[in-house]
Amino acid sequence: MNTNLSINGKTYTINAQEDMPLLWAIRDIVGLTGTKFGCGVSQCGACSVLLDGKLTKSCSVPVSYALDKQVFTIEGSSKNLEILRQTWSEINVPQCGYCQSGQLIAATALLDTVANPTDQDIDKAMSNNICRCGTFTRIRKAIHEAVALKNKTDE
Ligand code: FES
Repeated sequence: MNTNLSINGKTYTINAQEDMPLLWAIRDIVGLTGTKFGCGVSQCGACSVLLDGKLTKSCSVPVSYALDKQVFTIEGSSKNLEILRQTWSEINVPQCGYCQSGQLIAATALLDTVANPTDQDIDKAMSNNICRCGTFTRIRKAIHEAVALKNKTDE
């Protein structure tokens, strides 16, 4: 089918089978390769994107599900994502880096819905994003730092 897919505020005309995983369309057709393939079975979170603001594993939804929605990927820009990028970099969160776009998208989804998350909120929100390097402690710290920075700049 020929159809339109809206990603990060831009409309892409794509030719894809309706049941193609959204991740395939984002990476292989549109060419936005920041979103990663990890497990392909909704277990690791490397493929995380936002669909109308909702955290979604793009390996496990068909592209047809996203056609009437706004897709937001790591290539996108939002206030929370930019602040998280900054603290991620300051704290040197990534190790191998492979899962980090998914981690940043999950953290963005958290800050978009919870203004001042507790450790418990963070652990719960990030629990579906696996990091084989074990960067979870730095991820938690970077989220707290992002909240502090955001609260400071909002003053
Ligand atoms: Fe989608 Fe692992 S690649 S959850």
